[in-house]
Amino acid sequence: MTITSAEFISSHNDHKKSPPPDKPEFAFIGRSNVGKSSLINMLVKSRGLAKTSSTPGKTQTINHFLINQNWYLVDLPGYGYASVSKSLRAGFGKMIEDYLMHRENLSCLFILIDSRLDPQKIDLSFIQWAGSKGIPLALVFTKSDKLKRGELARNTKKFEDTLLKDWEELPPRFITSTEKKLGREELLDFIDEALANK
Ligand code: GTP
Ligand code: MG
Repeated sequence: MTITSAEFISSHNDHKKSPPPDKPEFAFIGRSNVGKSSLINMLVKSRGLAKTSSTPGKTQTINHFLINQNWYLVDLPGYGYASVSKSLRAGFGKMIEDYLMHRENLSCLFILIDSRLDPQKIDLSFIQWAGSKGIPLALVFTKSDKLKRGELARNTKKFEDTLLKDWEELPPRFITSTEKKLGREELLDFIDEALANK
């Protein structure tokens, strides 16, 4: 798929302020600093459409971007950032949960996983929660440039094996690097297919 336009629409902390749910939508979630905003920029080939930072906790609102005039990409805050106060963290959790539970046009939630790490409890329990709510999801292993090929294969396999203890089948999976521009075509093809099936 070719991206011909990418436009910032809105940024807010209340799911009810999202644009009308009249176009398919693809959202990105995962731990703070995992690379959600960077991935959105890679997809649309922009440096600064979504705001990124090397410090965790950069994205704190629900951000809608209109792509090719007919579908949305959504950048969400991260979960599990320890330095944000407990009440703020609970607030994020509620905001994200409300958004995910109510957004009827959500075609797919991409859950980003840091490919360098062993399976993290917080990611596993988030996937468990999203799955139990019937939210369509896919997994994206990020920062693959930071690992040797063998380590990457080991880590993704470990994550998949852990998931298979609870799930009969795995969701679609992708491996990305915004540094090396890996995974862009695969993700866009997946989105294209989802749009075609609408
Ligand atoms: P929050 O908004 O704070 O939740 O973070 P985020 O998940 O949006 O992460 P963001 O895109 O801001 O990136 C965090 C840091 O990771 C930045 O310093 C990015 O440059 C870096 N980063 C993101 N993706 C990659 C990647 O694929 N490879 C490498 N090496 N660094 C990456
Ligand atoms: Mg962000």
